[in-house]
Amino acid sequence: MPNAIVTGATGILGRGIVAALGNNAKQWQTVYALSRSQKENFPPNVKTHLLDLTKDAHGMAKQLEGVQAEYVFFAAYLQKDTDQENWDVNGAMLKNFLEALEITGAAKQLKRVIITAGAKQYGLHLGPPKQPMEESDPWVEGEGRPPNFYYYQQRILADKAKNAHWDWVVTYPNDVIGVAKGNFMNIATSIGLYAAISKELDGNLVFPGSPTFYTMFDSFTYSPLHADFNIWSALEPNCGNQAFNIVNGDTESWQNLWPKIARRFGGHIPRNQFNIGLGEDPSSSVELAERPPIADVAAQIGLENNVQRGRVEQKCDLIKWSQREDVQKAWERLQERDGLDKDAFAKATWGFLGFVLGRTFSAVISMSKARRYGWTGYVDTWEALSQCFDELEREKILPKAKYSEA
Ligand SMILES: NC(=O)c1ccc[n+]([C@@H]2O[C@H](COP(=O)([O-])OP(=O)(O)OC[C@H]3O[C@@H](n4cnc5c(N)ncnc54)[C@H](OP(=O)(O)O)[C@@H]3O)[C@@H](O)[C@H]2O)c1
Repeated sequence: MPNAIVTGATGILGRGIVAALGNNAKQWQTVYALSRSQKENFPPNVKTHLLDLTKDAHGMAKQLEGVQAEYVFFAAYLQKDTDQENWDVNGAMLKNFLEALEITGAAKQLKRVIITAGAKQYGLHLGPPKQPMEESDPWVEGEGRPPNFYYYQQRILADKAKNAHWDWVVTYPNDVIGVAKGNFMNIATSIGLYAAISKELDGNLVFPGSPTFYTMFDSFTYSPLHADFNIWSALEPNCGNQAFNIVNGDTESWQNLWPKIARRFGGHIPRNQFNIGLGEDPSSSVELAERPPIADVAAQIGLENNVQRGRVEQKCDLIKWSQREDVQKAWERLQERDGLDKDAFAKATWGFLGFVLGRTFSAVISMSKARRYGWTGYVDTWEALSQCFDELEREKILPKAKYSEA
């Protein structure tokens, strides 16, 4: 039976991988769950191990004594303020970690290294890419393009594998639906808090993002599905040295999800929600890159001089909303009434949710490549979201919604 190492074991994607491996003790002998903090207890075949990935390779090697495995799942992530810093830090974390495994000798046993990247691969943070996004699409780099740490990590991985006897897989999830405490990008917690607090205020659940995006499409990734994909692609011989999109398999929109969210939290969408005023103007609008990613391929696909720059527009800017006195007071009432985690509101990722809801363009991601390789996994996005809300209630991050399931 193989062993596995998971970095980022407390993160929204990493903890899903640890749980999936840990719940399958018949297949996985020992799972080393690595991070700087420890936030929960895992099944008995999981050994938590403290590791700081910002140390140099020798420093890490000391912390990794006795850690040996056939499979590495690298899902660690440290968010910095600029693209260059993200490149430097996240690139160094992966490179030094792989070198630490060479120093300890653990690299000799390795068969495959699976790293988690994401849809920034397609420049989704810069504006509309060509859609559906496919793994063979050209990388969005070169003159005028900001550094993208995924590209650096993927080059490090391919380069290290060249001189080793292990191979690699890279995953591209998008807009992850999962449960984690105090992480960098978390949709379910922030949406749940927005809905619960709106219900507490006056029951009106205005969609805070872009009216344009409300009827466009998004592809989401449920963290447990991503975990299953990681394990499947680790063990599937043909998947070596390949990158794969991994999204739920349905295509969703807020016109479909928002009414279900309103019902679940016992609120309602106000009539004419995109035309009513919300008091002192709470909106915001930010232009994305002047040259959207799709511009790189516009000539080849018959769209030369016909591409539009992307924007992030919020009818109700979520950072401003979270700073409102009445919102904070409503949170305090809920927190006391339901005995909720005191840090939950302060740690919610309002800026990230604002980006996810405020884009003015769709994000449709193809699952064709993974399916060609034999992947059959699928999850319904609403079911994923409502399971997360249930778990967040049990974790005392969201108040109990005393309303029937949508
Ligand atoms: N979340 C999303 O919606 C989303 C969407 C698409 C792609 N992705 C990508 O998925 C990857 C994983 O992101 P995530 O969202 O799962 O991250 P996350 O939830 O913020 O978790 C980050 C993990 O990295 C660990 N970590 C951070 N700094 C560390 C350090 N110095 N040493 C050791 N461990 C460290 C954290 O643990 P400790 O703090 O305990 O050390 C935590 O376990 C990233 O490449 C991200 O861009 C995420």
